Amino acid sequence: MLSHEDNERLTCIGPGTPMGELMRRYWIPAAFSHQIAERDGPPVRVRLLGENLVLFRDSQGRLGLLDERCPHRTASLFFGRNEASGLRCVYHGIKFDVDGNCVDVPCVPATRDEQMSRIKSALKARSYPCIERGGAVWTYMGPPEFKPEFPELEWTLVPESHRFATRHIQECNWLQALEGGFDATHLTFLHGGDAEPSRRVVASHYEVMPTDFGFVVGTGREFGDTIHWNVNVMLMPFHKIISSIPMAAHVWAPIDDENTMLYSINFHPQRPLTDEDLKREKAWRGIHTENFPGSDRAIRNKANDYLIDRALQASGKSFTGIKGLGSQDCGIQESMGSISDRAVEHLLVSDTAIIKIRRLLLKTLDDHAAGKPLPGIDPASYRVRSGRCELPKGAPFGDMVDDLVRAEAAVAAE
Ligand code: FES
Ligand SMILES: [Fe+2]
Repeated sequence: MLSHEDNERLTCIGPGTPMGELMRRYWIPAAFSHQIAERDGPPVRVRLLGENLVLFRDSQGRLGLLDERCPHRTASLFFGRNEASGLRCVYHGIKFDVDGNCVDVPCVPATRDEQMSRIKSALKARSYPCIERGGAVWTYMGPPEFKPEFPELEWTLVPESHRFATRHIQECNWLQALEGGFDATHLTFLHGGDAEPSRRVVASHYEVMPTDFGFVVGTGREFGDTIHWNVNVMLMPFHKIISSIPMAAHVWAPIDDENTMLYSINFHPQRPLTDEDLKREKAWRGIHTENFPGSDRAIRNKANDYLIDRALQASGKSFTGIKGLGSQDCGIQESMGSISDRAVEHLLVSDTAIIKIRRLLLKTLDDHAAGKPLPGIDPASYRVRSGRCELPKGAPFGDMVDDLVRAEAAVAAE
């Protein structure tokens, strides 16, 4: 369990909150590039870390991410005209460039230059810098003096043909989604099929270690004299790399305290993805949920109980009766409430990794408040992968883990 106070520190991500300020020190995905492919095309709404924003691509191809509210009288810039290198509010015609500078105020009579420049500087719109990487638009919402280089996140470095990405909204707080992503125990149950309880090998060793990119979560299962370790990397502040073929990744980008945009990515470091890869991914793993056309809303969602099929559940072929890994995760994580009340939990030994992750995140918040260096600011630190290894019983986990996650990534770089 967690105190109400600590739960709030970890989960609330609005401006001025400890976790919100920590997340604002990193690059965050705002949209897919294809959503705003056209110059002077329609702007799109973006809600990130509790802030309503509007994203547009201007006549020169530059990206602008502005506060959705027009600084004049707060009308939505989503309805704006994207024309001649700027976004023009349709209420009174005031226009802004990608940096939020007010460049035209046609609703006041012509006036002296200096008076006009005073008006324009008062009408500056809040804006955040953007960058395009890996088919997505990313933004940095923190203090400009701390803006880091874009991290060397492997899936953003491969050619477009090597990557397949989708996203969908999860109607819950980012942390319970992330905790679900690092909860090894649930794989056997929530995503399990008809395995007999007696055949389930549950993990008995849990290690969570801080690193220069975030942390690693090791889950060990005993087989005779060896322990089979499954090692997963969490890159600050909300990335996971999944060890599979092709590889996979998740990004849990908070929309607000009660909603999260989950990006799911498959990628192959060396070759384009084939139809076969994608078919297998969709049929077997199902981390990509199917959305209503043109939306980020999953077809299997909270409002329809994720189309749970009780007959399928009873048949034993599916533990949940819900189809698709992504929908199973969504369903169960959303069922915990928009922000899970961790003060009423009863944690078990199988939750050891989750307990350690929370402690580490709380410590990172303390470090941030104390002005200490943060993990994941060095772009090269993200050159890691998840992996597996076998160690003799008693061999220290910490000794091999750094080599394991970096060696895997080095193979890819060759
Ligand atoms: S509210 Fe936007 S121009 Fe007046
Ligand atoms: Fe899951």
